[in-house]
Amino acid sequence: MLVSDFEKAQGHWILARMGKKVLRPGGRVLTQKLVSGLHISNSDDVVEFAPGLGFTAGLALAKHPHSYIGVDADEEAIALLHKRINGDNIDFQLGNAASTHIENNSKDKVYGEAMLTMHADHRKSEIIKEAYRILKKGGLYAIHELGLKDVDEAKKSEVQRDLALSIKVNARPLTEEEWKALLEKEGFRIKNVYTNKMSLLETKRVIEDEGFFRSLKIGWNILIHPAARKRITEMYRVFKKHKEHMNSIVIIAEKI
Ligand SMILES: C[S@@+](CC[C@H](N)C(=O)[O-])C[C@H]1O[C@@H](n2cnc3c(N)ncnc32)[C@H](O)[C@@H]1O
Repeated sequence: MLVSDFEKAQGHWILARMGKKVLRPGGRVLTQKLVSGLHISNSDDVVEFAPGLGFTAGLALAKHPHSYIGVDADEEAIALLHKRINGDNIDFQLGNAASTHIENNSKDKVYGEAMLTMHADHRKSEIIKEAYRILKKGGLYAIHELGLKDVDEAKKSEVQRDLALSIKVNARPLTEEEWKALLEKEGFRIKNVYTNKMSLLETKRVIEDEGFFRSLKIGWNILIHPAARKRITEMYRVFKKHKEHMNSIVIIAEKI
């Protein structure tokens, strides 16, 4: 997560370094839909895959679940989360969401944002299988990811290639039907689907997500870091180029 080289760093960590807290494609609005769709109560045992900087962890913990575990593969993110968020029955673990050390059928709610997209489809399935394994029957799994719309195979490859080059992550977004099929294949029943535009870097969305003053600070940081500005400008260009073919999607699914 430490950004030492702006040319090579993954896009989300550059944005985080500039002060951005909301790093998921559908912004705060879709995150709020995800959290309210999970109906987290104080008897729930909750797991978050890839808490990152802990933005949604804060929202989930505000519901006072019985317990919360966040599993992230980034050592520095985990260290930061340990510093920022403490409490009884709250734990952050360094690890791979595809193979956690969490017991079978032990959790009520599992969710993850902007993390499946980063993986090839067979890896996505491993993570989804893990959510299924640790959830109790009737438990809910929610995802918030990058979507594709109105694409043929050629357009899909073009979007993926441009994303990989600009954000330096092998991003593999899927269409709504493909996301749903991936969840259904592992035994989930789709309960709700919400979509939003993919406008992560547009001024209106940044202000909506970060608030006015933080947005000013982010703008200033981008201005004084030319290497970061170059990368962010390129990401913005790619998001704009493919804006008709990309969206963001939240799916709430139930383990049946
Ligand atoms: C784009 S950030 C999103 C962070 C956060 N969920 C958010 O929406 O702000 C991606 C995060 O996913 C984590 N990640 C990616 N693959 C993972 C995996 N297989 N297991 C655990 N964490 C993973 C990365 O370490 C990083 O913190």
